[in-house]
Parts: sequence; structure tokens; C-alpha cells
Amino acid sequence: MKTIQVTITKTKQTYPIFIGTDILKKITSLFDFTKYTKLFILTDETVAPLLLRDLTDALPQGTKTCILPAGEKAKTLLTMQKIWEAMHKAKLDRKSLVLNLGGGVITDMGGFAASTYTRGIAFLNIPTTLLSQVDASIGGKTGFDFDGIKNLIGTFSQPIGVLLDTRTLQTLPQREFLSGFAEIIKHGLIADRTYFIKVTKKQPLDYTTNELIEIISQSCAIKQQIIEQDETEQGKRKLLNLGHTIGHAIEAVSLTTDTPLSHGEAISIGILAEAKIANILGLLPKKEIITIEKALQHAGLPTCWRTTTKWRTKSTSSPFIPQILEKMQSDKKNDNNEIRFTLLEQIGKGSINKTVSTEVITQVLATL
Ligand code: GLY
Repeated sequence: MKTIQVTITKTKQTYPIFIGTDILKKITSLFDFTKYTKLFILTDETVAPLLLRDLTDALPQGTKTCILPAGEKAKTLLTMQKIWEAMHKAKLDRKSLVLNLGGGVITDMGGFAASTYTRGIAFLNIPTTLLSQVDASIGGKTGFDFDGIKNLIGTFSQPIGVLLDTRTLQTLPQREFLSGFAEIIKHGLIADRTYFIKVTKKQPLDYTTNELIEIISQSCAIKQQIIEQDETEQGKRKLLNLGHTIGHAIEAVSLTTDTPLSHGEAISIGILAEAKIANILGLLPKKEIITIEKALQHAGLPTCWRTTTKWRTKSTSSPFIPQILEKMQSDKKNDNNEIRFTLLEQIGKGSINKTVSTEVITQVLATL
């Protein structure tokens, strides 16, 4: 088992990330639950039949459970209300602990519910998807989608710890597993060229369990180093937004169709789009775009929004381009109504706060 200790520089808040195989059942030896008055598990209908029993068996008796519908479409205010109601019904108090067992939707929503219930109670993340293991469960971003905008309402609230059991990946659908590699590749792109080469050498499914633990640990360490210095995304943390300015907008529009993209799929398309933008702005050499495109495709990820699902048209005057642009205008990452991008200067080096004209964005969207 590997342990990464996160210490937020400004607040000195500190918590461990435990990474290993079959460690869920050892949870009581990793965290001290005796100091909490009540334990409350939040999970969803997909994860519950696979992992809830393992967790409840490992925890003290009397642990309460709340099972939500699965998926991004459930990441709403209405669901949030249901969580608060369940927490209230379970009589949680300020010394209770919420355990978020699931993917990014569960860790984001459970974190938000905990951070607002009675002005804030403790929560622990147990991410069960690759994507949430390397991204959403670490760093304290919580929230839900609102008015069609991803994560518009949320807080920065750190968990008391993260338990990351790679055994949970055994039941993960292949599409979800590959989706996680979009964030892993992103970590290499923004921070470490050698890591980028390492994680794109093989196809994701060909890595052994030990190699995967090593990869997950390195991704967590890259994220840890960034969020420790900049918890609330004033500067450096914006590096993690690579591919997300366009990716989030594409994901949000896709959610209004019959064929939604997963988060990682949308981010993969966003990464390539933003690499092309960086090239047009003279930041990133063309050969780097080709390397990035090949790496994403080799990982089984989409790089083209037009042909990936049925909601795309073959025409470059797609009706979806204005919708994508509109979503980008209301992105919470904007400053003073200006869309801000994190762009690459080279593989392994990102640069934040870049403004890009609507013409350049439209030009790139039309090529994808
Ligand atoms: N998912 C990006 C971040 O945590 O900042």
C-alpha cells in the first residue's frame, strides 16, 4: 500500500491518501472512526450492489446508508436536497462522518452535502472509478451542476482522507476505465513529460495491477503538489483545467442529447481542441499536437466531437457549435466574462490564464 500525505500550505490542513489493492476491508485500521458520533455512507445504485456490503461489513454496526440514482444527470439541486433530507433523518450531528463511496458525482455531491450540513461536517472519500481516484476525490472541490452548467454551485472543502482501492476498478466498465486515462494523460501534459510518455506507452488495459498502482500514485502526487500550493484555484491549480474549458462545454451539451459523453471522453476532445488553439496562438509546435492526438487515440479516447456520437452532424456549421460557445461563456472559470484557458507550451508544461478569441475557438471546433 502507498500513502500520500496532503498538506494544504495555507491552512495546514492535512490528510492521507491510501492507495492499494483490497484495502477497503481494512478501513478501520486506516482511519479512527471512534471519534465520530455517527457514520453515514453515500453511494449510488450502480456501486451499491458491488461494494456497499464490503464497506458496511468493515464498519461499526449502525452505519446509515443513502443510495442515489447513478450518473451525471443526477448531479442536481433536487438530489442534493434528498441527501440533506437523508442526513437529517439519520440524525447526523456536527461530529458525524459522511463516507462517499462512488465516482466523481458521489464524491462531489457528498462533499458538498457534508460541507454545508450544520455548517460543515467531516467526510471521507472512497473513489471507485479511475477518474475519481486520480482527480475528483482529491483536492476538496465539491458541488453539483446548476442551470446546465457543470459544478456551478460548490465549495472547496477537504476530506479527512481518501481511500483508494484498485480492486474497485475490476468491475468498472471499460468505457469508464478509459475515461480515467484522460485525466492521467492530462497530468503528464501539464506537469511531467516523462510521466506522459510512461502513461501513453501501453494501452490502458495492458498495464498490470502494480503498474496501475504506480500510475495512480504518480497522478495523485502531481495533483497533490498542485493543490497543496493553491487550494482555491487562484493560480497554479488552474493547470488542472487543461482540456476542461472546451471539454466541460462539450460534455454539458452532450448531456442534453441521447448520447452523452463521459467526463473523460469530453476532456480528451477538449485536450486536443486546446492543443490546436495553443498551436494557432504560436505556443505549441505542430508535432506536439500530433503526439497528443496519437496518445489519446492509442488510449481508446475520442478526439473528435463531430463523429463520436449521434448528436454530431457532418456539417462544419453544426448547430452544436453555438451551444458549446454559450456554455463556455457561462463557465465558472471565466474572469470578468472573459473565457480563460490553460494551454500547453510543450508536453509537460502548461500555462494558465490565456485568453482566446471566439473566432479561434470556432475555427478549432469546426475541425474536430
Ligand atoms: N479537477 C480539477 C481540480 O481539482 O482542480
